Amino acid sequence: MISSPPSVIRLAQYTTTELDEITGGVPDPFGVAGTGLTWLPKEAHFGVRDHGRLVAHAGLVRVTVAVGAARSPVAGLGGVVVAPDARGRGLARAVVAAAMAHARDTGAEYGLLFCLPERVPLYEHLGWRLVDGGLDVEQPDGPVRMPLPALWTPLAGGAWPAGRAALLSLPM
Ligand SMILES: CC(C)(COP(=O)(O)OP(=O)(O)OC[C@H]1O[C@@H](n2cnc3c(N)ncnc32)[C@H](O)[C@@H]1OP(=O)(O)O)[C@@H](O)C(=O)NCCC(=O)NCCS
Repeated sequence: MISSPPSVIRLAQYTTTELDEITGGVPDPFGVAGTGLTWLPKEAHFGVRDHGRLVAHAGLVRVTVAVGAARSPVAGLGGVVVAPDARGRGLARAVVAAAMAHARDTGAEYGLLFCLPERVPLYEHLGWRLVDGGLDVEQPDGPVRMPLPALWTPLAGGAWPAGRAALLSLPM
């Protein structure tokens, strides 16, 4: 059994080996391959181990959001995944909270994530809000309209900026 609350650790490395340890190596564990999007690697990794086995992960990468001439430092959250046999026990809540606690110390104004439409209620339950109107994101051939919902959470207190927003990097 996993003790409660789960103990989240900063992972020294996170490669496909660690992802496969969590998922069992299923193809397309996030269900986003169909979008054809290119994604940004994450810079910081948070995980939970259960008797030594990695069972949950959340990744963070610093990104920038532009609205008009304004630029905001943003903590991009991605790679949130829990082992199939460990779901429903609060591990996603725990790794997301740990990642956002870390992001608060980096000067990011908001957390930002993209997810499948069916995941939106989960993140809203965790206090995230939909970015009205979505975002443009960078891709190898130039900016595109992100087809997936975007959600944000405040880190430095302010509301998400009004206006057409663009992520000045690949999405995470
Ligand atoms: C999505 C995923 C990470 C959730 O993991 P999990 O360990 O089951 O999530 P948790 O148990 O931490 O649930 C978090 C909270 O969301 C709630 N929740 C779960 N599904 C919900 C839904 N459909 N609507 C509203 N709330 C929901 C849970 O009740 C829990 O709330 P609580 O802490 O107040 O009890 C897991 O299903 C997974 O790895 N899926 C495959 C990969 C994936 O899609 N990742 C998301 C990428 S954006």
